Amino acid sequence: MIIIEKLPEILNNSKNEVESILGKPFIEPFVQIEKLVPNINNRKIVNNNRCFNGFYQGDNLIAMVKLLEEGYEGKIDLIYIDPPFLTKTKYKGRILMDNGGKQEAIEYFAYNDIWENGLFSYLEMLCPRLYLMKELLSDEGTIYIHLDYRTVHYVKVLMDQIFGEENFLNEIIWAYKSGGVSQRYYSRKHDTILVYTKGKDYIFNPQKEKSYNRGLKPYRFKGVKEYKDNLGWYTLVNLRDVWQIDMVGRTSKERVGYDTQKPEKLLERIILTSSNEGSIVADFFAGSGTTGVVAEKFNRRWIMADKGALSSIIISKRLIEKESLPFYTYRIYNNHKKAGKLLLKEIGIRKNREGIKEIYLELDKYELNIEHINIKGKYKTNIKKMLSKNSLSLLDFIGIATDYEGSTPVINWQYYRSNGSNLNKKISINLKDINNGQKIYIKYVNIFGHGSSNIYEIIDERVVLCQEN
Ligand SMILES: C[S@@+](CC[C@H](N)C(=O)[O-])C[C@H]1O[C@@H](n2cnc3c(N)ncnc32)[C@H](O)[C@@H]1O
Repeated sequence: MIIIEKLPEILNNSKNEVESILGKPFIEPFVQIEKLVPNINNRKIVNNNRCFNGFYQGDNLIAMVKLLEEGYEGKIDLIYIDPPFLTKTKYKGRILMDNGGKQEAIEYFAYNDIWENGLFSYLEMLCPRLYLMKELLSDEGTIYIHLDYRTVHYVKVLMDQIFGEENFLNEIIWAYKSGGVSQRYYSRKHDTILVYTKGKDYIFNPQKEKSYNRGLKPYRFKGVKEYKDNLGWYTLVNLRDVWQIDMVGRTSKERVGYDTQKPEKLLERIILTSSNEGSIVADFFAGSGTTGVVAEKFNRRWIMADKGALSSIIISKRLIEKESLPFYTYRIYNNHKKAGKLLLKEIGIRKNREGIKEIYLELDKYELNIEHINIKGKYKTNIKKMLSKNSLSLLDFIGIATDYEGSTPVINWQYYRSNGSNLNKKISINLKDINNGQKIYIKYVNIFGHGSSNIYEIIDERVVLCQEN
């Protein structure tokens, strides 16, 4: 049967699936695992209790159900999604490592875009999620669905049914230069973004772009403002629906090594146009977290979800780098891959040169059975070599909550690898108060995004390990 005949069935099944999920009491599989308060290299402590932002690591369907349960129905002004495109490809993250002073890149699984029953199973995945997004969208809300030639026409038909043809706002063409060429067909140099609103009164803040004058010369029309840059004369016009924006290139500063990372410039246009300061912006296929990073930059609140472990660690580091507001991380409780074991050479309390008490610790070894990691043979061999030189080389991130009270740890100190260098072995934390009975929570995450934690207690000026998770 051809797919067009299957679309009503996909729509019906998805609608029923969503109704039945929402009709039942929700068994809460997502747990709040931490609050992260960005504090890079002791530069500053963000003392901000306004914490609305959240990252859900797990299947976005469950994340959305949880959000609806928590009262987010009709609360989200902007949803941008960039789901898999049905490319039949396994995507990776590129991780720079320190191999005895030499930089070496390894590649690790990010996500699969391979579908057993092709387009049919792809649409079966996407369709119920689109229904849930509609529930979450506010009356003034807009949804952007980023796709390409493989699926966009089918998703357009589904969206016309779910959101209503009358709410179709635009088809945006994102054009770029990168990508391959062919002698057998025109070079494919664009993605398509479908834009639908929830209703008639939607947020739309028109943005401007440059429009170069013919011949790049000034027109000198009465009342028309003209500008000049190194190319020539131009006017500012309202944004059109064809956007020429470069992809995140190999040498781009934005690049975080996630295969399908989208440019911040693209999200800037979307977020500035279709949300206001304070709006909630959501991305349920977050990848490397571009949406959250841009939302943060423009004072929007954000919610993101992604099922990949790699995505989670990349997002955390990216947001810390941007000194974002604190954010919560949620995870499905049975979706926790243990990250091996971190051994410390020492951990204790001492006075620093200024006579202020500090907690210090020194990393010793990191034990991880690399055989359990699903990684290509050549990288495995390289990693084994690196591990034999320095077992800590696989450790990516250490987060510390200095006042752990037994529920959600507030990770107020973070140390992580950047630019392919290893983590510093020695860590010291200045604290105003160090009290008997105080608990310290230390989370550690490896380069694959798998994390574990240890809890310590201060007993008579000593720091004693009391729990390994
Ligand atoms: C094309 S990438 C998104 C890239 C992102 N826009 C960026 O700038 O990095 C698609 C993402 O969707 C995630 N994903 C796929 N299916 C998912 C699901 N059911 N729940 C949550 N995330 C999912 C993948 O892990 C992948 O990171």
